[in-house]
Amino acid sequence: MDTGQNTGQGMGLDGVVAAVTNLSQVDGKAGRLIVRGRDIEDLAGSYDFADMAVLLWDGLVPDLPNADVVRRSLGQARLQAAETLPLLLPAAQGLSPIEGLRAGLALFNDQDCDHLLLCAAVPVFAAALWRQSHGSRPIAPNPNSGQAEDFLAMLNDGTVDGAAARALETYLVTVADHGLNASTFTARVVASTKAGIVSSVVAALCALKGPLHGGAPGPVLDMLDEIGDPSGVAPWLDAQFAAGERLMGFGHRVYRTRDPRADVLKGVVSDLRGNLCRGPNRIELAERVEKEVLRRLAERYPDRGLDTNVEFYTALALEAIGLPRELFTLAFAMGRVLGWTAHIFEQEQTGRIIRPASRYTGPIPEGRKLSAIAG
Ligand code: ACO
Repeated sequence: MDTGQNTGQGMGLDGVVAAVTNLSQVDGKAGRLIVRGRDIEDLAGSYDFADMAVLLWDGLVPDLPNADVVRRSLGQARLQAAETLPLLLPAAQGLSPIEGLRAGLALFNDQDCDHLLLCAAVPVFAAALWRQSHGSRPIAPNPNSGQAEDFLAMLNDGTVDGAAARALETYLVTVADHGLNASTFTARVVASTKAGIVSSVVAALCALKGPLHGGAPGPVLDMLDEIGDPSGVAPWLDAQFAAGERLMGFGHRVYRTRDPRADVLKGVVSDLRGNLCRGPNRIELAERVEKEVLRRLAERYPDRGLDTNVEFYTALALEAIGLPRELFTLAFAMGRVLGWTAHIFEQEQTGRIIRPASRYTGPIPEGRKLSAIAG
């Protein structure tokens, strides 16, 4: 493990190389995301979820079939996942959708559950949990549909807008993998202990839930709602900056420039402009807020290169697709579960437990000295 320069207290492992992977690479200086040798801009829009699964699982899943077979297997796995709903739904009463999803995935056992069932379960559980919280019964999956289309059908009484389904498919591909982000790192740590695929994915989902990672897009829309109209931008930001608040959808640990996924998703929003439930002014307001936030962040942190991250346009894209904001983090999990499973397989192949060191700064018993070996 390369500990780089950041070994100080309070550091978040910035710049530390903690895994070797051939899955994806984030080039933070150039603003590029490469997944298995392809730029994300090339994959988004031309690949669907099953294509992306094959790209990421290739060489990691023995006898991996082609994308058509994986597409059909995912459909069958959605039917299988739906068999768990009678157990999950009563237990998830009163939980938020993301907590319900956490409970649902935890119902599987590490021995019998495979990567296909985990990937298939996320949309099935998300749709059913949402419907239950609104007093509706689940809609059965259609094994012949694609992952995004079936999710929207299960959510919306079987009705699907084709453009929204294509846009969601693009979103799932765009967020499928992204280097050693917090949730993927968590998945690899748990996988390294040989705890199993379900335990590793559940742990990853727990990491994704936080607002500094996958929980940001809902608050992005809350921000736009609170600002209301262009006249509200400056006073709202004045108050946030004065209070030292972080602005959701901006900044990134690795990118020193614009997150390339932000532009892919901005394109998705443009294509769906007519669907924006808050009207076309939503995007104009968002662009105004973005411009003003970036100006202020550059003024305050001139050397840091804080820019728009994936979550800002994720919020607008998922809203335009018609998803309720309480499902945004679950939609993220729906895409990222592909990357988690691939990283879990890759980590398991190394056979080595991830166990970094800490630097103790507490008291030591009188007359004793600590050895130089960090614990
Ligand atoms: N708004 C205001 N200030 C910010 C923001 C922001 N969005 N991001 C960073 N800063 C500030 C920090 O507070 C810090 O200030 P300080 O030195 O006075 O404490 C300074 O900029 C430098 O911070 P970084 O080192 O760039 O931040 P870090 O790498 O620790 O955190 C993170 C990255 C968590 C993404 C951060 O930028 C943030 O909180 N953003 C808002 C939440 C968000 O959008 N999360 C989604 C990220 S994308 C993803 O996970 C899928």
